[in-house]
Amino acid sequence: PDFGTCPRKSTVAGGGTRSRQWWPCELNLAVLRQFSEKSNPFGSDFDYASAFSKIDVTQLKKDITAVQTTSQDWWPADFGNYGPFFIRLAWHNAGTYRAVDGRGGAGQGQQRFAPLNSWPDNANLDKARRLLWPIKQKYGAALSWADLFVFAGNTAMENMGFPTYGFGFGRVDTWQSDEGIYWGGEQEMFPEALNNVVRYNGSTDFTTRADELESPLGAVSMGLIYVDPRGPNGTPDTKASALDIRETFGRMGMDDEETVALIAGGHAFGKTHGAVAGSNVGPEPNAAGIELQGLGWKNSFGTGNADDAYTSGLEVIWSRTPTKWANEFLFSLLNNNFTLTKSPDGAPQWEALDANASYPDPFIPGKFRRPTMLTSDLGLRDDPIYNNISKTFLNDFDYFTEKFGLAWYKLLHRDMGPISRYLGPEIPKQAPLIWQDPLPAPAYTTLAASDVSSLKSQILAAPGLNISNLVTTAWGSASTFRISDKRGGANGARIALQPQASFAANNPTRLAAVIKALKGVQTKFQSSGKKVSLADLIVLGGAAAIEKAAKAAGVTVTVPFTPGRVDATQDQTDVSTFAFLQPQADGFRNFGHGTASSLTEELLVDKAALLTLSPPELTVLIGGFRALSANFDGSSTGILTSRPGTLTNDFFVNLLGSYATWSVVNGTNEELFQSTNSAGKVQWTASRADLIFGSHPELRAISEVYGSSDGQSKFVTDFIAAWSKVMDLDRYDVKGHSGPY
Ligand code: HEM
Repeated sequence: PDFGTCPRKSTVAGGGTRSRQWWPCELNLAVLRQFSEKSNPFGSDFDYASAFSKIDVTQLKKDITAVQTTSQDWWPADFGNYGPFFIRLAWHNAGTYRAVDGRGGAGQGQQRFAPLNSWPDNANLDKARRLLWPIKQKYGAALSWADLFVFAGNTAMENMGFPTYGFGFGRVDTWQSDEGIYWGGEQEMFPEALNNVVRYNGSTDFTTRADELESPLGAVSMGLIYVDPRGPNGTPDTKASALDIRETFGRMGMDDEETVALIAGGHAFGKTHGAVAGSNVGPEPNAAGIELQGLGWKNSFGTGNADDAYTSGLEVIWSRTPTKWANEFLFSLLNNNFTLTKSPDGAPQWEALDANASYPDPFIPGKFRRPTMLTSDLGLRDDPIYNNISKTFLNDFDYFTEKFGLAWYKLLHRDMGPISRYLGPEIPKQAPLIWQDPLPAPAYTTLAASDVSSLKSQILAAPGLNISNLVTTAWGSASTFRISDKRGGANGARIALQPQASFAANNPTRLAAVIKALKGVQTKFQSSGKKVSLADLIVLGGAAAIEKAAKAAGVTVTVPFTPGRVDATQDQTDVSTFAFLQPQADGFRNFGHGTASSLTEELLVDKAALLTLSPPELTVLIGGFRALSANFDGSSTGILTSRPGTLTNDFFVNLLGSYATWSVVNGTNEELFQSTNSAGKVQWTASRADLIFGSHPELRAISEVYGSSDGQSKFVTDFIAAWSKVMDLDRYDVKGHSGPY
């Protein structure tokens, strides 16, 4: 195929060869513009929490149960029960999550859009979503698709006898594909990519390569949720499959026990579908004809469904009771001798040839099959660590039930952020779990205006504190927030704890001194019987510094401040997954630089996207940071002003006013540049994160607004607005539930 080009040459609606094709390397700002209110039919004022509050969840469950157990002729239910199908739907929605960048997951209803709606691994889930339409239609705005996809799976599980741990609603739908997610660089989808080595750095040895999987990817191949069920690249090597499982589930933040619980628990239900040859199956939804109305994978063999169904091309059944919670999967796994066979489509799978045929046919009562397994399933038997866990689970069904309940709950909620975002009557009453980044209850929610202003003066007067280090500390604290899984942010003051206290971008030595000084202010304040959290003081310090710098520029302003943050303890902080919040580069503080694949300015845009910044917000923040001399190391890179610490638009004026004077500093791999004046003397140095604002046409256009003679006051106002937005990104406790973006 001619990858990336449509053979039809439209002359309207954005047709023709675009700039992106002429200059494919141009910095792409599209991710900063997505999810605009223009795409959202509910508009930006829509409050999902209040819309949802009208739902009767008991009735909703009854409605889901009725759909689950009413087989439809257009897609008949195996065993008369769509429960397992709905579990797979929930799992494939949630299972795209990866802990590294927090992206993926069930939180935005993304499976409605390409590419996910058309991934080979999501085959026939278009039917599962369509089965749920009557429910979505009934509840309308009060129930998001995102919630429905996972709640249907959760309810199905309860209906089949599994005691779930609980459920939180609150996933707000988005209205377009999330273009900020890197799904990989392949130009082919599984299963064509049998020699897929792109994301393994060229390595073809699947017995050793698992941990070479390109970051931040969480699946072995384009178009798959996790691993190839047939084994790596279709090779039925069960032990190597286990290595892939460990790596990919690990990237979701699941340990070995959680991983075995999830797979053995999930495959306690349902079966796989590969009764016929795959050559009968038509294109995926996004490539299918308009008359198919968003459905795809039309199967032309026989009825095209039921006993003729083709989904994965594997034909396996794991349990004698596939619509009932029981320890059947592990029983079969550990008690049968499996022999390598082939599915009707020719794919490798395993069958217990010497076992009795006692596993039911989904449609013909009284007909039975022999036990079967996927190569990936046998990984749970053949990997020594997984084998131990599997045995423990088989011998102690209650323990297995408890562990699967916890892992399933984590799977479905991992990307939802603080529990203050959870809605509905089924939120567990137990204390939050460590992956939910627990916070203590607030000791206060307001501070007297006089206290705020006296604290600001005390901070500015404290030895060792200055504009530069107050701004970088507040930024380092708040800017860990990422909209992807809504982790991080200033609340909790986790910047004073491990691992954040050691992040290189935070300049640990300087940070430690700032925290110590702020704690001094806190102790003094609290000795008068009042309370202020370190988290609030860090943010207040940034505000005080900005007000001082604005005053130096002749503008008197008050930076908005929302008190009520709390301080987390080290015990409440999951060090291993918080480590993922460490920025590789942070162009705002001129920290770090690009990699072989991603340029410094691309990392800057990615960070801005995770902070939900628009192109103007990104631009004004950079100009402000340079004026405030807020580089992580106190260096002068990009500080294009002779009066650092003064909130002026000098960065833009001097950047736009320098004509052809910049050159690469030798040996810096095009990361550092210098500008010389007419006498040939070096005047400024700057990074890629600085110069991009003069070189990229759209960023330059925005910079011109702030660098114009009437730009100064707009600059100050816009800078403070963007700054305050970032400081409060994680304040779901104040903002209420709040949307996905
Ligand atoms: C079905 C693979 C993990 C739940 C399937 C199918 C495959 C598969 C190939 C058959 C699809 C079809 O042809 O209809 C895998 C692999 C996994 C994995 C490779 C990870 C190594 C999980 C997890 C869960 C789960 C973690 C849930 C917790 C299910 C269910 C079905 C299913 C319920 C049956 C669907 C039905 O009956 O229509 N899986 N799976 N799987 N999977 Fe998984």
